[in-house]
Amino acid sequence: MGDIVTERSEGILRVALNRPAKKNAMTSSMYLDLAGIFNEAAKDESVRVVLWHGAGDAFTAGNDIGDFLGNPPEAGGSPQSKLMHMLLEFDKPLIAAVRGIAVGGGTTMLLHCDFVYASENTRFQLPFINLALLPEFGSSYLLPLTVGHARAAELILLGLPFDAGRAQEMGLVTKIVPDPDVLQVAMETAHKLATKPSDALRAAKRLLKRPFRDQVRGAMDAENGAFSLQTRSEEAKEAFAAFLEKRPPDFSRAMKSMTAR
Ligand code: COA
Repeated sequence: MGDIVTERSEGILRVALNRPAKKNAMTSSMYLDLAGIFNEAAKDESVRVVLWHGAGDAFTAGNDIGDFLGNPPEAGGSPQSKLMHMLLEFDKPLIAAVRGIAVGGGTTMLLHCDFVYASENTRFQLPFINLALLPEFGSSYLLPLTVGHARAAELILLGLPFDAGRAQEMGLVTKIVPDPDVLQVAMETAHKLATKPSDALRAAKRLLKRPFRDQVRGAMDAENGAFSLQTRSEEAKEAFAAFLEKRPPDFSRAMKSMTAR
């Protein structure tokens, strides 16, 4: 089985991130595969709804940190950017069933979903600052739009984890569900949506997104340029190495290496 598994039935395309041993951390090829899957789903008349979830006990721990070192994203046309633009243009209903870890992209990608069902045990986090990285997937615009600047600043600049209750209170989650029921509750909504008139659903979703679509695209372009530079920075390299070596980062090392240059 690959790192992404899909299954289609009764108008519902289920897409599972499938790297459970790595908390479904996303590699470059997974972003490309997902972008391709959403592209096909947009064109395939038999797909009316997409339900997105993760295998094992996590949604996703975000970008694979080793992959950041091996394949740092380019400013334009990166695998990440292909997926984020695909999500921005996707006009069929998108449901996320989330449990366990929803960290980094595991939180920001949810901003592109129409329904987010989260297990009571979900741990959300935007840890970018701790990795010397920046908000992505349009979250620099979508997060303050959803939760307000004061709360977005707290989430982005402090990078602290938060629970499902806090996520729901801030408007990031549709409903909190007991852990064993998350997929089933998400499927119930998927079935309801699959019986609705598909063209009208798509038109309604486009209308809901229209007021901020251009702004999100602009935010993504700005983020991608800055993010690409930041992944190549000494401080980010120190943060990635520290994660992989299972030790706390020492950003004074990055400062020393910058001074030595
Ligand atoms: N990139 C690469 N590998 C990752 C990963 C990531 N983003 N997240 C988890 N993993 C790997 C771990 O290194 C570990 O691998 P190992 O078994 O070979 O050592 C495995 O997945 C399980 O993770 P572990 O840390 O043991 O699980 P945990 O439940 O103790 O903690 C997290 C889970 C998500 C809190 C922790 O793994 C973490 O902080 N990951 C980084 C998340 C992150 O910063 N993502 C944003 C990237 S922009």
